[in-house]
Amino acid sequence: MGIEEALGVGLREKLKDDLLAADDKFALHVPKVELHVHIEGTITAELRWKFTQRNGTKLRIAKNGPELKSLAEVQAAMDLLRPDPSRMENNKEETFQFFEAYFEGFECLKTKEDYFDLAMHYFEHAATMNVRYVEIFWDPQGHTTRGISWNVMMDGFREASKQAEEELNVKSAWIMCFLRDLSTESAMEHYKAALPYRDIIVGIGLDSNEMDRPPTLFEEVFSLARRDGFKLTMHCDVGSQNTHEHIRQAACVVAGKGLDRIDHGLNAAEKQDLIDLILKQDVGMTICPWSYLRHETYVELGPKIRQLYDAGIKISINSDDPAYMEDCWILHNFLLVKHLCGFDDKDVIVLAKNAVNISWAKSVVKQDILEEIDVVYERFYPTQ
Ligand code: HPA
Ligand code: ZN
Repeated sequence: MGIEEALGVGLREKLKDDLLAADDKFALHVPKVELHVHIEGTITAELRWKFTQRNGTKLRIAKNGPELKSLAEVQAAMDLLRPDPSRMENNKEETFQFFEAYFEGFECLKTKEDYFDLAMHYFEHAATMNVRYVEIFWDPQGHTTRGISWNVMMDGFREASKQAEEELNVKSAWIMCFLRDLSTESAMEHYKAALPYRDIIVGIGLDSNEMDRPPTLFEEVFSLARRDGFKLTMHCDVGSQNTHEHIRQAACVVAGKGLDRIDHGLNAAEKQDLIDLILKQDVGMTICPWSYLRHETYVELGPKIRQLYDAGIKISINSDDPAYMEDCWILHNFLLVKHLCGFDDKDVIVLAKNAVNISWAKSVVKQDILEEIDVVYERFYPTQ
């Protein structure tokens, strides 16, 4: 499939408006668990502007680009950076542009207050969509390499997690992702440096550009993390080089027997042996439909997600990087997947429960959310 067939920004905006116009109250009210969202993927133009104003720093969208002088300029610049297949030759170019924009966004984060506000901004959105529990990715290497201390990052996140639980009824834990395009030594150094903060870290992940960086490269640090009691996951990006082999390694090789979850991994739908393997290993998958609109044709995407679902794989629905995806959060992703796959509200229940079951929350938290999901279903579809 050629990237030229994927939806451009304008069509994605229209799709979002059409989906919201249906006012799907069940999708809104169903209690949710989110397992794949990058906190740095939630840095909107408004947050960039707020943090740079507060810190008295300069705001640029590209490394050597002009300084931006108003919120409107930041919004316009971010709009231009949004991945648009119509402006690109291929998936590789699209991936490169996404990461360039994404990593430049880190620059505005300087203080503990910035990290706190960023996390609270996510929690506030999540609460309006009835997210009850979330495991949030962050990329420590993208911060420490800019001179940010671990305390600044982690104290901001910890305070936000506490406040969100107390005031918004959103519980959370954090997943530390290593940037796979950096060295394995850097991953190990960061792993060790993070151990004092493990009270809020539930798992270890792997993200960033997958080109020539297969899962098994990171065997040593992932094996160590498993021995230390962390849960494990890795990105297998859609349409990336050698994706089928990367999915296989993630499912059954890394850390002795394979990971606890796979992030994305959508291309498994093309290979029955991978579907069988994922089922056999009982690996959960985090699916982020909106982000695939940039890589997949609109008509092919629904059947691929459906295939994983119909095979009985425990897939969950998530938002990934809302600030770069037409401001689409978990609710929009549920609406999209209903539309693309023809899912009804019973399927929504299965997807919502999958997320609970493949999460790494304490069993009492899982039980409470599962019960609440049933209560909401009963409210919309009373039995008697
Ligand atoms: N893939 C890999 N790394 C990422 C992504 C993604 O979709 N989003 C943020 N970091
Ligand atoms: Zn991701």
